[in-house]
Formats: sequence, structure tokens, C-alpha cells
Amino acid sequence: MIGDLVMARLSYMFRQGTPLGLEADTLAVLVPQSDGKPVVPDIVMESYRDIIDKIISQGDFKADEGEIRITYLPKDYARLVLAGLGEKPSLESIRIACGKIVRELENLKARDIVLYYDKSLDLDPGEVLGQCIEAAEMALYDPGEVFKARERKEKTLKSITIVFPDEISGADEIIKKSTLIADAVNYARLVADTPSTQMSPEGIEKEARKLAEAYGLGIKVFHVEDLKRMGMNGILAVGSGGGVPPRLIILEYKGREADEWDIGIVGKTVTFDAGGLDLKPPQSMERMKYDKCGGAAALGIIKAAASLRLPVNIVVALPAVENLPGPKAYKPRDIIKMYNGLTVEVGNTDAEGRIIMADALSYLEKTYRPAKIFDFATLTGAIVIALGKYAAGLFTKDDELAKDLYEIGLKTGEKLWRMPLWKEYYDQLKSSIADTNNIGGRPAGAITAAAFLSKFLEDQSRWAHIDIAGVAYIENGMPKKPYYRDSATGYGVRLLIHYIIEKFLGKKQ
Ligand code: BES
Ligand code: ZN
Ligand code: ZN
Repeated sequence: MIGDLVMARLSYMFRQGTPLGLEADTLAVLVPQSDGKPVVPDIVMESYRDIIDKIISQGDFKADEGEIRITYLPKDYARLVLAGLGEKPSLESIRIACGKIVRELENLKARDIVLYYDKSLDLDPGEVLGQCIEAAEMALYDPGEVFKARERKEKTLKSITIVFPDEISGADEIIKKSTLIADAVNYARLVADTPSTQMSPEGIEKEARKLAEAYGLGIKVFHVEDLKRMGMNGILAVGSGGGVPPRLIILEYKGREADEWDIGIVGKTVTFDAGGLDLKPPQSMERMKYDKCGGAAALGIIKAAASLRLPVNIVVALPAVENLPGPKAYKPRDIIKMYNGLTVEVGNTDAEGRIIMADALSYLEKTYRPAKIFDFATLTGAIVIALGKYAAGLFTKDDELAKDLYEIGLKTGEKLWRMPLWKEYYDQLKSSIADTNNIGGRPAGAITAAAFLSKFLEDQSRWAHIDIAGVAYIENGMPKKPYYRDSATGYGVRLLIHYIIEKFLGKKQ
């Protein structure tokens, strides 16, 4: 894998009982709010009443969501951290608090943390445990550790002991699971954050091969000659301007003994999107190494599923290309005969994602017939205009799947919002010379992109397209969440893994 960074940074333990008298330098407490006032757990209050009363009476801590106060203690622990959760704490409040705690404490050179919460939280204690770990590991992810040659900061933080008054059943299993999920998220982030010159289509193939080797996955890689033979002219056309040849990478994870495939995932893997001959202006091109975030998420999902040995069969397809304006680049008004036989008039070479995704979707459906097909793609600027940086666009005809994903999104914080796929929108894609155009004009740009994709599936009823252009990476500090950084978010990994765990194992979180 790329560096050791994708291994959990901290070690985690669970203890039932009191948070007092343990070996650590810092006691951190999760504090909900009631009637605008902090509800500090009794056991913490009893030990440090004078100090905490003073902080609260001075108005220095109200336990708002995301609020944090650090004080120094005369005895036992060196530091006390109060982390607010707000009036109606959700798992997101927990992630925000834990993200803040570890980031602040890492700056302070803390080493070992005792993290305490009690029943006043009114949340499933096991889910809180899991989300503390996912958020802490995500908050500590730092691509600077990989790419900075100097200016490397010494890392002192070592462990978190999570304490709850009662026993949490299966705590060790939750810790293991959440750590592996966080590893996969951070792995996906690192694939996405790695500049496109290293993480080219060839670089992605290397990563896929390393994953296959590490977890015993099946792997097939189709190179230019194979793609030609198979008629994958969409992937070939888009990739023809690139310096590194395109390829289609297939990874198979078999978690149960059966010939069916439960889940197929296609991840848009444009390792750099310059726009092609319809070149992007510099402002829009600047972050386009992130146009591989869908592929990175798919790699993260299969890594998580394999490391957790989830009992499901998953197949991933990554169409990996560079969209560059080289001398052999595909051109506006080209007509491409796609893998499924449809012809596409190229209205704009910058609408490349849908072309490569289309071939990969047709191939995946035809070859594997997965029970459900998901695709993750930084597909359109239009979805960013529609939903901003806080929700991905969900397009599906499967109402039950839409509901399930919406709920998992609320829970994991990887939110999505359903958009329509009504037939009227298809009119915008009409071409006078080919079966379809690849663009549908400015109105409803995210919907017409999804409508285009749908033309390449025979059975659309089991497919969900997730447009992650807004949520895949942080831009200008947005989305503002302390467990993120100025980097890729890994969006999709937690969403789908928690979905699979709930659906296939019938478990929460
Ligand atoms: N990769 C972009 C979409 C994108 C935009 C991702 C912003 C992340 C942030 C995609 O390939 C693209 O360029 N789409 C065009 C389509 C247009 C030409 C119809 C767009 O959204 O402007
Ligand atoms: Zn583009
Ligand atoms: Zn793109």
C-alpha cells in the first residue's frame, strides 16, 4: 500500500467503569447540553467540581456542538478536556467532538487519552464507540506526512482508552471493525490526494494489484489492445489524449460461497481532468487530481470489505484515464461507438466522466449481473451548484435503496439527496447525428449526466449513481468538519461499508 499511513495511527481500548485513576495524561469528556447548559457526567463533576463550576459560571463552556475547552488539573490527569455535543447529540456531534479532541491534543503533545461518556448521551454506546474511532483516525490523517520532506512534526499521541459506565457488548470487535474502516477511508483519501503524475492510470493499476495481493482479490486489467478488441471505445476515446494509456481495472472480492455478485461498484477514475481539447480554465483545473475520487472510494470500499471479511461478493470496475488535450485527443463532434453499441456524439470533451463510466457500467452489468450496482463519480459541477459541499446527489429508480442510502448517509455523515430521473430530461441529450449527445446543456446538468449513464444499463432498477463532485474533497475549508482536512474526504467508503454491514449482517454501525 502507499506508505504506512494507512495503518491506524493510535491504539484503542475499551474499559467499562470509571474514567478516574487510569494511566493517561488527558481526560476528555463528551458533554451534552440541556436547556443551554452543559450536562457534565456526575463522576467527573465529583472529582473536579471547583474547576468545572468555574469554567461554566464564567460562561467559558456551554457544551455547544463542536465547542471544546482544555484546562490543566492539579492532580491525576494533567489535562481535562470538555467537548460539547449540543442539545440533541447525534453521531455527527460525536465525530465532530472526537475530531476536535485529537487534533487539539496532538498540537499539545498529549500522549494517552481517556475518553469518557455516559448514558446522558442517549445514543447507542457501541455506535458512539465506533464513531469515536472512525472520527479520530480520520482527523489524524495527514497527507503531509507522506509528501513533506522537511517540516515534519513529531507525533506524540499514542492511545485512546474509551470508557463507558456499562459493558458494551462486542467492544473489541467494534474497535477492530472501526479501525479497519478508518484505515480504508484514509487509504482512499491518500490515493485521491496523491498527485496525478504518480497516481496515473498506471499508478492506479499498481494500487489495485497491491490490494489484490494483500487481500487475495481477483484482478483483471484490460489495456489498450484488450479495450480495442472488446470495443470499449468510450474509455479509449477519452484516454487517447493522455500521456499514460487508459485501462479498465476489475477487482473481485468473494466474501461468500456463491456464484452471484451482490454488489458491483464503478468508480470514476479520471486521474487528471484538464477537460481535454475543451480545456478547463486554470481555476477549474486546479483541483482536478481529485477527479479520481470515485475510483479511490471504490478501492477503499473493497479494501474495507476484504479486511473485515464481510460475507458479500463485490466486484469493482475502475475505468482509469487521463483527460488531456494531447495530439491524439478525442475531439468535439467525434462520434464514438460505445461498448454497448450506442453511438455518442461528443458535445464537449470535458464531459468525459460519463463516457468512461458508461462503458464500465455496461461491462459490469453484462459480465457480472450484480444484484445492486453503485457508481461513485465526481461527475458534474452542476451537482455542486445544486447541493453544495454537504451532500452528494443520488440518482436511482429503486425507492427502497434510496431510503436506505439516505438513512445511512444521515448516520455516517456522508449525506446524500435524491434527484429525479424523469424522462423529460432525456430530451436534452438528443443528437441529430448519433444515438445520444454526451451533454445536455446547462439546465439540470447533474440530472442529464445521470440520464446519460442510465442509457448504458439494460436494467436500471438496481442501480444507484452517486455524484460526489461536491463532497469528495475539501475546498476553501468546506465542508467544515474537524475530522476532515484540506484533502480528499474518502466520501463513499463509510457510506457503503455501513450500508453493507447493516444490510448483510443486520447490524448497526
Ligand atoms: N470532473 C468534472 C466535474 C467536476 C467539477 C468535478 C467540479 C469536481 C468539481 C467533469 O468531468 C466535468 O468537467 N463536467 C462538466 C460537464 C459539462 C462540460 C457538461 C461540468 O460539470 O462543467
Ligand atoms: Zn471533465
Ligand atoms: Zn471529470
